[in-house]
Amino acid sequence: MPRKLVTSALPYANGPIHFGHVIGAYLPADVYVRTLRMQGEEVRFVCGTDEHGVAITIGAEAAGMDCAEYVAKWHDEIRGTFDHLGIEFDIFSGTSKSPSHAELSRDFFRALDSNGFLIKETSQQLFCVACDRFLADRYVVGTCPKCGHDKARGDECPKCGEWLDPLDIVQPACKVCSNTPEPRSTTHWYLDLPKLRDAHIGDWFQSKSWKPNVQAFVAGLLKDIDKRPITRDMKWGIPVPEEIAGDEEGKVLYVWFDAPIGYISFLQEWSVAQGTPDAWKDWWCPKNPDDTELVHFIGKDNIPFHCLVFPSMLHGAGKGYVLPTAVPAMEFYNLQGAKFNTSEGWVIPLEPFFETYDAESTRFYLLSSAPETSDSDWRWEDFQTCVNAGLADTIGNLATRVLRFIDKHFDGHIPALQEEHRAELDGAMLQDSGPMEDPADSVLRFRFREASSRLLANAAVANVYIDTTAPWALRKTDMERCGSVLNTAVEYLHFLARWMAPFMPKKAQALWEMLGESSPVAESGWPELPKADTWRKDLGGQKLGDIHGLFDKLDAKAIATEIEKLRAGHVT
Ligand code: MF3
Ligand code: ZN
Repeated sequence: MPRKLVTSALPYANGPIHFGHVIGAYLPADVYVRTLRMQGEEVRFVCGTDEHGVAITIGAEAAGMDCAEYVAKWHDEIRGTFDHLGIEFDIFSGTSKSPSHAELSRDFFRALDSNGFLIKETSQQLFCVACDRFLADRYVVGTCPKCGHDKARGDECPKCGEWLDPLDIVQPACKVCSNTPEPRSTTHWYLDLPKLRDAHIGDWFQSKSWKPNVQAFVAGLLKDIDKRPITRDMKWGIPVPEEIAGDEEGKVLYVWFDAPIGYISFLQEWSVAQGTPDAWKDWWCPKNPDDTELVHFIGKDNIPFHCLVFPSMLHGAGKGYVLPTAVPAMEFYNLQGAKFNTSEGWVIPLEPFFETYDAESTRFYLLSSAPETSDSDWRWEDFQTCVNAGLADTIGNLATRVLRFIDKHFDGHIPALQEEHRAELDGAMLQDSGPMEDPADSVLRFRFREASSRLLANAAVANVYIDTTAPWALRKTDMERCGSVLNTAVEYLHFLARWMAPFMPKKAQALWEMLGESSPVAESGWPELPKADTWRKDLGGQKLGDIHGLFDKLDAKAIATEIEKLRAGHVT
């Protein structure tokens, strides 16, 4: 079985993450990894913060902090959010501090250079004297040369959509200090993407099947691809190798060049921490490239880098790095019909959120509303319905009514199955109460919405079974049959707890312990769909754990208040 290397896009260490990020690149990856692990696969899950680039230096300046201090603060903050949500990486590092990151990034640069994939070129760029820096495209503002709109950005006019070169902007100004920048010449290194396309990447891309959103977009980019600058004039960043930089001073690697290399350097860091410093090579540079499946979880704005630029770097380095097997790119996730926007207050602040709402139910709602094939939304009303009708009624209520009944009438011990009832109750549970489908099968196809609805549908099967076998009525007439009916229900709850584990790991564990199990549910393996004759574990006689409710229902008034709060806090 190939090893699986799973990555989530490195979040910028310059602000909080919101649910759009969470469902875009992190939560689906976590569920995927948990599912694979339960299936016995060897998986590594790598992430960390993206800590270089202009956005970081400007953020740090605005906060009056130095860059290192600033990124450390956001690193911890972001990590805290992942902890809250139970998103568990093997390593969560950062590009400015992971020990081998800078040198590995320079090695990539050297290798690409010596393999003939870099171009050195001098050009004019806008320089702000007041800020003492060259201005990245989006830090130039001014009037659009095409339509005259006075709020054009260096790279694009938001009004007419024209792609711009900052040098063409009329009356350019520095976005930070409003002074007029001046053109100065500067030398940079460019990644020769046309050459890399013709060498391998074009054929490689064509030979694979991609999500439709990736396929069309990247095929278009490949057609008229141009070289891309991979260095910048900045202080904060990884210096270009001295022997290549020569007299060119103050050149650092472009943030998008070094960031994805974090997927490698962080695994190196992990390997060292394990005491097996070469272990990362088994994943990144296996003897046979089919021995690793590399899966990048990203949001759609990251598609060109993960499907084109980074694969080109990996190939061009010529060191036997594997290329991605799959890039499950999510579409955008909005909030009540509009884009998440932290500066406009159109967000759900997560700290107060987690004081009130359960993180595991949130995971489930996010997955069931994931923007897999088109943009989708967090809607408070849908969150409420998902928790109340889905989780509390279908799963929570099922578990508590069965287990409380056993607690009360069978002294907390799972009643025995009478042989004479076995065949009939197998049939009632596994055939007659509705179809069951394997949620893992959906997860492995990156269909997280389908996976969540399969989980609920499987729980609904048990509810139908209980309604038709009516153990409550049997208690008065046939205690033995009543016991067999409940025994069968509990056998099925065992499956349900295991199916729940990747989606809601803590709730699954809680249910597992209520069933009287003490081991970690995640170590119980992924169950195949239950089949008559082989599915039972013979649980009769086992003592249940303490029984408690699994999900709290959400109150309609509280939800309405959340929507009002959101609207009231919205500033545009
Ligand atoms: N920081 C980037 C973003 O948030 C993603 C970087 S992904 C990596 O859009 F591959 F470059 F690491
Ligand atoms: Zn300026």
